[in-house]
Amino acid sequence: MDQAQHLRNIVKAQELNYIQQARVITVTSGKGGVGKSNLAVNLGVWFRQLGKRVIIFDADFGLANVEVLFGRVPKYNLSDVIYGDMKIADIVSEGPMGIGFVSGGSGIVSLNNLDELQVRHLIRSLSELNALCDVLIIDTGAGVSDTVLEFAVASPEVLLVTTPEPTSITDSYSLVKAMHKSPKYDPKMTKIRMVANKVNSLEEGKNLYQKLNSVVGRFLQGQMEYLGMVPSDRALEQAVIHQQIVSIASPSARSSKAFEQIAKTILGEDTTTNNRWGLTDFFRNFINKS
Ligand SMILES: Nc1ncnc2c1ncn2[C@@H]1O[C@H](COP(=O)(O)OP(=O)(O)OP(=O)(O)O)[C@@H](O)[C@H]1O
Ligand SMILES: [Mg+2]
Repeated sequence: MDQAQHLRNIVKAQELNYIQQARVITVTSGKGGVGKSNLAVNLGVWFRQLGKRVIIFDADFGLANVEVLFGRVPKYNLSDVIYGDMKIADIVSEGPMGIGFVSGGSGIVSLNNLDELQVRHLIRSLSELNALCDVLIIDTGAGVSDTVLEFAVASPEVLLVTTPEPTSITDSYSLVKAMHKSPKYDPKMTKIRMVANKVNSLEEGKNLYQKLNSVVGRFLQGQMEYLGMVPSDRALEQAVIHQQIVSIASPSARSSKAFEQIAKTILGEDTTTNNRWGLTDFFRNFINKS
């Protein structure tokens, strides 16, 4: 039995212990600073409001996105699970409203750097998140790095944050292209949905989607879906400056309402297909593909 098969069997065995699979949503973008972390934490807030248990995994290794937005310093990070003897439950820090978050830490660059025992331990640990949350939101770094691609192609649901800036559009396209070129990408398994951020109207958001999606269709024979838009909002900027989350500090702000709408759209979907695509599947993909 090869190593990958061995690992798959371990994941399979774990799966039997869990009836309900947590939903995995990966937030990513080509360009940096376009609003990924804000989308991740604000969706987290509204999922909580809607009664879901949420954990946000900060997969921007080495950079502290989520903890800075939450204004909380985690004691531990994923390195303590891989290299230390901590359990995953011990490293889930508590953010506002009981949102859990896991800091990736700076010690891990890619799964490929870990040996078999470490990967087994990590997968077993991460699978334990199933018991702790209903939705796992993964906040990735920007760009088309190996790590970002690994997360994107293994994930059942990818939210691609794009702003009207030309560089954001071209960088989003580059990321979607890299996903399509990856032998690990399967369009039937991974749904890519665009979120238009920092736009000024519903129409601008839709146009941005149509523009990008038509290029994806023409040059990659691919297809993205449109999830919605978040307006450019000073209340969000102010919240970030004060290390607050806009959806908590100003729930009726324009951006907060937009995040609420997107969260409701996501949770209102028929999840029969998503159930197939829970957290264990996500990590199985990760193994299959690393
Ligand atoms: N809808 C919005 N309205 C106004 N400003 C916004 C909006 N979304 C994001 N911003 C601004 O962009 C900044 C960067 O947002 P955020 O940290 O969420 O981006 P990111 O994509 O996670 O960045 P990085 O690539 O560095 O991780 C915020 O601090 C905020 O000032
Ligand atoms: Mg970020």
